[in-house]
Amino acid sequence: MASRRICLWLLFVIITYSVGEDTRSILMSLITDLKFQCANTTCLPFVHIITSTIMKCQMACLAETYCRAASFHQSTSNCELFIDMSDEIAHMMTDTDITTMIVIAGTRFPPEPTTTTTSTSTTTSTTTTSTMPAQCNTTYRAQTTYATSTGPFGLTVVDVNNDSKPDIIVTNVNSNNVGVLLNTGNGTFAAQTTYSTGAKPDSVAVVDINNDRNPDIIVTNLNSNYVSVLLNIGNGTFTAQTTYSTGAGPYDVEVVDVNNDSKPDIIVPNSGSSNVGVLFNTGNGTFTSQTTYLTGTTPFSVAVVDVNNDNKPDIIVPNSGSNNVSVLLNMGNGTFTSQTTYLTGSGPYGVSVVDVNNDNKPDIIVANSGSNNVGVLLNKGNGTFSTQTTYSTGSLPLNVVVVDVNNDGKPDIITGNYNSNNVSVLLNAGNGTFTTQATYSTSTNPRNVVVVDVNNDNKPDIIVTNQGSSNVGVLLAC
Ligand SMILES: *[C@@H]1O[C@H](CO)[C@@H](O)[C@H](O)[C@H]1NC(C)=O
Ligand SMILES: *[C@@H]1O[C@H](CO)[C@@H](O)[C@H](O)[C@H]1NC(C)=O
Ligand SMILES: *[C@@H]1O[C@H](CO)[C@@H](O)[C@H](O)[C@H]1NC(C)=O
Ligand SMILES: *[C@@H]1O[C@H](CO)[C@@H](O)[C@H](O)[C@H]1NC(C)=O
Ligand SMILES: *[C@@H]1O[C@H](CO)[C@@H](O)[C@H](O)[C@H]1NC(C)=O
Ligand SMILES: *[C@@H]1O[C@H](CO)[C@@H](O)[C@H](O)[C@H]1NC(C)=O
Ligand SMILES: *[C@@H]1O[C@H](CO)[C@@H](O)[C@H](O)[C@H]1NC(C)=O
Ligand SMILES: *[C@@H]1O[C@H](CO)[C@@H](O)[C@H](O)[C@H]1NC(C)=O
Ligand SMILES: *[C@@H]1O[C@H](CO)[C@@H](O)[C@H](O)[C@H]1NC(C)=O
Ligand SMILES: *[C@@H]1O[C@H](CO)[C@@H](O)[C@H](O)[C@H]1NC(C)=O
Ligand SMILES: *[C@@H]1O[C@H](CO)[C@@H](O)[C@H](O)[C@H]1NC(C)=O
Ligand SMILES: *[C@@H]1O[C@H](CO)[C@@H](O)[C@H](O)[C@H]1NC(C)=O
Repeated sequence: MASRRICLWLLFVIITYSVGEDTRSILMSLITDLKFQCANTTCLPFVHIITSTIMKCQMACLAETYCRAASFHQSTSNCELFIDMSDEIAHMMTDTDITTMIVIAGTRFPPEPTTTTTSTSTTTSTTTTSTMPAQCNTTYRAQTTYATSTGPFGLTVVDVNNDSKPDIIVTNVNSNNVGVLLNTGNGTFAAQTTYSTGAKPDSVAVVDINNDRNPDIIVTNLNSNYVSVLLNIGNGTFTAQTTYSTGAGPYDVEVVDVNNDSKPDIIVPNSGSSNVGVLFNTGNGTFTSQTTYLTGTTPFSVAVVDVNNDNKPDIIVPNSGSNNVSVLLNMGNGTFTSQTTYLTGSGPYGVSVVDVNNDNKPDIIVANSGSNNVGVLLNKGNGTFSTQTTYSTGSLPLNVVVVDVNNDGKPDIITGNYNSNNVSVLLNAGNGTFTTQATYSTSTNPRNVVVVDVNNDNKPDIIVTNQGSSNVGVLLAC
């Protein structure tokens, strides 16, 4: 009797065990000491994570509906997930450090989505998109790219033709133009229409500045030392530029009402002048000459956010040459106090000012380009900030955005890593601390990043300017 009970218990244990982790392994075939030989860039992994074991790497792949294969690097514990291996499976390369695993088709539940290539009618192709994974809300599909002119640099994603679909606006730094790529409605974009700017257009904001409810384009031109304003005619086409002088090397632009007259003003960090310029909106879409305020050396970006809870937007500028960030408080009429500075890492470049620890006080997040990390400076509540806590990113993170990507109500950190050719996503643990990064491949030299839902599925997508490849990449949330 007792022995039978033990047998049953053992059987139960075996069944539970195989239903747990073991069934997952039979859903993937293992190929040891071989790796994919990449025919072209479609072989790049779409997710890169660190896992302690091969099994955890397999489980990470099986948790992603779009994952078809994974590679586990024994020495580094790197686990890379792939979407499309059709070209590479036949051409594997020897690598004793790597175990490659391929999902056995048809064994997974829920099933992987079928591709639309064989569908012959519109009815079959509509059913294929309905198998979106429930679990898959923290990861991204491989990027789709859209051609720009040479050197896409600045980036904004805003609806410019009033069809409720966000469009892509990009400055092409080596072509002296701004490109507008209209959203076709399903997260795909039309070819760009370009408009002339000054020399080396490097950043762009898209905001209605003449109160006609159509968002206009404002561009800073690094080598012309002016901002260009292109008015929206009303259907997503734009007038020729009107220009307003700035200091030397304007590098970023925010368009926010700072003097409480309901007209958005222009704020520009002048990288060559080590100051920030404020140009007031006169109300008819024209701007006054700039008033400047001292910053540190080579400010490359700016955020305009109320940090001391007086309902007046303040100016935050990282100083890439001073390794600190300046905070200039708004005195209420659009004039600003002199700067208070806080230490950052090396070469602070992009900045985002968002409450990350849920205390209703916006915190400063800087991309420390020379330290390969992001610094988080928590707001003490009165507009003063704590010393930074840092989190690793890829190599040369230039810009940073802070947006909730996994739908848990807590803003996460996303950086573009210029020298790693990927973007990092660091999830917010909820108290303003962040997880280890997951990275997603881009093309060459990703510079600016925007996180916005472009295909109307309520999941934030990542859009990135790939400066070295002359395209924008769109990574749809899966
Ligand atoms: C790149 O790979 C894809 C599929 O993986 C294939 O369709 C395409 O022809 C390849 N391009 C080149 C240039 O090899
Ligand atoms: C995905 O989002 C749902 C809510 O929509 C949440 O319950 C779930 O925890 C999320 N999954 C991950 C892995 O974040
Ligand atoms: C998206 O819409 C465009 C234009 O309507 C169409 O040409 C394209 O095939 C669609 N793409 C997808 C993936 O549905
Ligand atoms: C945008 O479209 C809506 C209707 O779709 C219309 O009511 C509104 O006036 C339009 N806005 C502009 C600025 O044309
Ligand atoms: C937009 O409006 C302008 C002026 O009304 C017109 O010349 C142009 O053809 C329109 N473009 C589109 C794409 O509708
Ligand atoms: C805009 O307003 C300013 C100041 O009120 C005025 O000098 C300028 O002529 C106006 N420009 C236009 C185009 O109406
Ligand atoms: C801004 O102006 C409005 C009236 O136009 C006033 O009620 C409000 O208090 C002002 N806000 C600040 C922060 O001064
Ligand atoms: C703005 O307010 C400050 C402090 O109240 C004052 O010193 C300054 O003169 C004002 N500037 C303007 C242009 O009104
Ligand atoms: C920021 O840099 C400036 C210029 O190098 C320097 O004067 C200031 O002391 C620095 N601030 C901090 C907090 O280190
Ligand atoms: C801001 O708050 C911190 C912490 O409560 C305090 O140490 C500091 O003196 C305050 N600074 C100002 C300018 O009020
Ligand atoms: C934040 O939350 C994480 C995960 O729950 C925990 O490990 C960490 O200690 C917390 N940190 C702080 C500062 O509360
Ligand atoms: C991102 O870049 C880092 C650093 O170069 C690299 O280790 C990682 O494999 C990259 N990830 C992807 C998905 O390309």
